Amino acid sequence: MVSTWSFGLRGHAVAWPGLAAGGSSLDAIVESCCAIELDEEIDSVGYGGLPDADGHMTLDGCVMTSPSSCGSVCCLRRHLHPVRIARMVMERTEHVMLAGEAADDYATRQGEPEAELLAPAARAAWEQWKIDGTIPDQIGDDPRPVDQEGSGRLFSSARESDWKHHDTIGTLALDASGRLAGGCTTSGAPFKLPGRIGDSPIIGHGLYVDPSVAAVTATGSGELVMGCCGAFLAVEAMRRGAKPVEAMLEVLARIEADHTLAPSHQVCLVALTASGQYASVALRPGFRTSVSRAGGHEAIDPDAILLPGS
Ligand code: GLY
Repeated sequence: MVSTWSFGLRGHAVAWPGLAAGGSSLDAIVESCCAIELDEEIDSVGYGGLPDADGHMTLDGCVMTSPSSCGSVCCLRRHLHPVRIARMVMERTEHVMLAGEAADDYATRQGEPEAELLAPAARAAWEQWKIDGTIPDQIGDDPRPVDQEGSGRLFSSARESDWKHHDTIGTLALDASGRLAGGCTTSGAPFKLPGRIGDSPIIGHGLYVDPSVAAVTATGSGELVMGCCGAFLAVEAMRRGAKPVEAMLEVLARIEADHTLAPSHQVCLVALTASGQYASVALRPGFRTSVSRAGGHEAIDPDAILLPGS
């Protein structure tokens, strides 16, 4: 099981025992993502995430096991677990994606409990941002999401201009029966323009799974990933024979070539192949990958960084 960011291990701790005991990769993905969505310390996903510019929390997520088996929801305002609801869309409807109030209504009809999505600390951060454009209690002064290992925090800068593009958890798993699954869940960019949706809930952008090749998920500046269908592009490169690191570096190189990058931009990709190989890459330093396997659980550095000096 592999996830973006070191706080992925918090979800793995909940889901790994079932996966290790022979449970399904899809169950493990949903369990892991739900645990992270509930974790108030994680400031980029679920209950701990930061709201949009109007102070409304909106959540996006998707799940996928194959091109014919995927589900997605975006802009939820009343339900805390987009990945669980995305699975309902995948398994109980003939559709792939539901959006906004209708997606919330669908979840309620399916028995999913409604919840308050905005944590007190996130509300306080938004109130301060409205007053003076700063976020209280930031840890450092880095212009992009940086893994503050162990804390669940990514947003370390107090500068408003640095928060525009981030961020997500993507989780991939391979079970004992050889089934790949992936999930991706986010509160989106902090203080985003209301209605903005990033890459995370879009199949092929924040997540793509081809059971015969690999699963790939992305985190970081969603708009950059969306410009090149990042997760799909990486899986397709592997289908043509590229190794996982090469395939994901191809995505980052495409992003670098196509955009004028700001210091706040970050994109990171994680892959898990059908044969159980895993790898991760990042555009810039500051990213960690969570890995759980029979030998244990750890957060590791990416295999390659496209712009290591940045
Ligand atoms: N990568 C998450 C987002 O841009 O919303």
